[in-house]
Parts: sequence; structure tokens; C-alpha cells
Amino acid sequence: MSFQKDFLWGAAAASYQVEGAYQEDGKGLNIWDVYTREPGHVAFNENGDVACDHYHRFKEDVALMKQIGLKAYRLSISWTRVIPNGTGEVNPAGIAFYNALIDELLAAGIEPLVTIFHWDYPYALHCRGGWLNPASSDWFEAYTRVLVDSFSDRVRYWMTINEPQVFITDGYKNGNFAPFMKHPDGDLIRMTHNVLLAHGKAVRTIRAHAKRTPIVGFAPTGPCVVPASNAPEDIERARAASFDFNRNNYTSSNAWWGDPIVLGHYSPRAYELFGDLMPKENPEEMALISQKLDFYGANIYWSMQGGELGTTLTGCPKSNLAWPLTPDVMYWSIRFLHERYQLPLMITENGMAGHDWVALDGKVHDPDRIDYLTRYLRSCKRAVEEGLPLIGYMHWSIMDNFEWARGYDQRFGLIHVDYGTQKRTLKDSAYWYASVIAENGENL
Ligand code: NOJ
Repeated sequence: MSFQKDFLWGAAAASYQVEGAYQEDGKGLNIWDVYTREPGHVAFNENGDVACDHYHRFKEDVALMKQIGLKAYRLSISWTRVIPNGTGEVNPAGIAFYNALIDELLAAGIEPLVTIFHWDYPYALHCRGGWLNPASSDWFEAYTRVLVDSFSDRVRYWMTINEPQVFITDGYKNGNFAPFMKHPDGDLIRMTHNVLLAHGKAVRTIRAHAKRTPIVGFAPTGPCVVPASNAPEDIERARAASFDFNRNNYTSSNAWWGDPIVLGHYSPRAYELFGDLMPKENPEEMALISQKLDFYGANIYWSMQGGELGTTLTGCPKSNLAWPLTPDVMYWSIRFLHERYQLPLMITENGMAGHDWVALDGKVHDPDRIDYLTRYLRSCKRAVEEGLPLIGYMHWSIMDNFEWARGYDQRFGLIHVDYGTQKRTLKDSAYWYASVIAENGENL
């Protein structure tokens, strides 16, 4: 068995990280626009005001995607470009931008995969309590409806929410990401419930109103523990640890989010840990939250090793973000997630940060990324060869971009961006990925 014939080889990016044009053509402000203005939050006090200027350069960018041979491109919609205040009036220029981008992709033979929310939350809604407001899931549903009405004649693939683990944990618990807040458990649990309801209402809206049969998922992340050996007891330990959580790490775990969304109930562990802080069990709400999905997206970068959360191998090779190189994480994540959730998997993100630059010969040599990708894709291939259903792989990222609190220093792209001139240069890894796509992964 090998990668399926219509395997979606792709790459991903997100609105705030690439678009720029932060107050053009009627766009409203989001929490990253606002809070990156407070010094001290982001490396070098950088922000996404201009980013990769993708808003103006999307045609050039899509042409490069076509050159690489991408079958799919995972983009996200900027909520406030489409609805400047988060609710209410729709901005026609915002719709026009995404229409043009989607049309450009389709004309290039590239399937658009749309993420509805990738962290750039409307500032106006944040001021009304954000995810703590009981109306927050209705706001999200209304926003989703606008997208579905505008784009679902052409867009088939929808992801509701990107990494709830990270935007809740970093944005509202640890205060590392916009809006840089530190809320107590009770608030985080209420936010979780509203995010879950938002997801459920979005799925309902997509299914009810999409003009083409939609393929719906979400794009979570979470720790995967790779077994210390192939002994059954080690595998079992790793499996259990991959879905466990405690009072400190619950919002960043897999099961905290995945169990209600796919299995229709909060993990029993949640009630053990938080008792009365948890929402009263409400079958109707849980049914809404757990409507059937077509795939489970997984953003996967690295694993804990050896069966314990929080342990990594001493001296393990690391990327620039100091994330360990652990290719087996692909195989084990796909396997464990499929065993638990019984859905086809899509790798909605995977990649590594480098300090890539344009060499004297005008090229960008990134042999480390090619090596990384070879190992990680072989690990995906192992899953596929064992019959695990994997429908696509989205490399993070199509191009270097704004890496949130890390600013622009961490370069994740297949395409190098010179932020001074906005010149794009395909890295060696982009050419290499092009051949992998052309061969459908046969020679990995
Ligand atoms: C997770 C996020 O979805 C994305 O926005 C981020 O840039 C990458 N992973 C790398 O950290």
C-alpha cells in the first residue's frame, strides 16, 4: 500500500502570519493587530502589519505553489477582514479578496482548504468578553455562515478551528500569545465549552448550507508519546500518556478537546480533576459538539519519547525553535489518533524552523529541511503502508512568515521571504518537495 492516488500534497499558512494589509480595504482590527503594539510581547516587537504582503502578492504566491506542484493549499480566513467588528456588517472587499484567492488557486489546479479561525480573533468581540461571552459560539456561527454562503460553491474542505490547545493555553492561560492573558481554571473551562460549541455550530452550518458536499474537520495539535520500544506494554504506556492530562497541562492535551468533539463527552479525567467547575452534562450540547467529522486534522511537530510526558531524549537533534527532531511522531500520532477517534487523518501542519538565507549563488540551501522532511514523510508512509487512512499532508509552511511571539526570525517556509524587498525564493526543499509530489511519495 502506498499514498492514495488523490493524496493531498500541500502546504499551509494562516491569515495573520502572511497577509499583512492589516487595516486596508475596511478590515477591522484583531487581537494580534492590537496587542502586538504593546512592547515586550513579541521578539523585537515585530507584528503582522505587513508580514509577507500576501494580500497584495497572492497571485505571485499561487504561481509559486503551482510551480511546486501543490495539490492543496491550507489557508485561513481573517475574521475581521470579512466582518470588521466580528458580528454584523460584512465587508465586501474582504469577501472579494478571498474570492480572488480561491479562484486563483482553483485556476492553478490547487484545492483550497479553508480554516475558519486561526487565532486572529476580532478585537471588538474580545472587548465584549470574547470566548467567555455566552454568545461567542453564536458569533462564530454567524461568521461561518458568511463564509459558507460566499465560498462553498468552490471550497469543499473546511476546518473549523486551528489548535484550540495553543490559542487557549498561550493566549488565556500562560499569557504568551495575544491577548496575553492569564485566566484561572474556571474561566478556561468556560472558554473551552464555548469554543467546543462554536466548533459544533460551525459544523452544523457548513453541513446545512454548503453548496458542494463539504469535507469537514478541525486542526488540533497535542502531545504524542512515542513508545520506548515495540513491546506491547511500552506501546500501551505511550498510548495512555498521549491522551492523559493533569491540572497543569489539560488545555494543551489531545483528549481535553478531541474527546468531546469526536466521542461526544468530556474525558472522564476532566470531571475527576475539576468536578463542579465542569459544565453540567447536557446531551443536546454534546450532540451538537460531536457531529460527525470527515477527517481529524493533526498539526504534528515533535514527540515526547519513552512513554513519559515531559521527557525528551538527551542530545536529540533540534530545529531552531529547539523543537526535537522526532520523525516517529508521525507514525505513532496517526496510529494513536486513528485508534481512538476512528476517523481518516490529515496532517494539517508539519515542518521545521531554520535560519535559512539566500546564499551567494542566489539560492536557499536548506539540506536540514530536506533531511527532516524525508524522515517525517517516511514515517507517514509507514502509517499508510500499514493501512492507516491518511488523506493529506500540509507542510508548514508554504513560505516564511510571522511566527507569532517569535516574530520573523523563525523561518518555516518552503519559500524564502526577504522581508525588506518581499522577494520570494524557492528553497532547495521546495524543489525537493516538488519531486516528492510528482512521484506521489513513491521514492521516499
Ligand atoms: C502551529 C500554528 O498553527 C502555526 O500558526 C504556527 O506557525 C506553527 N504551528 C509553527 O509554530
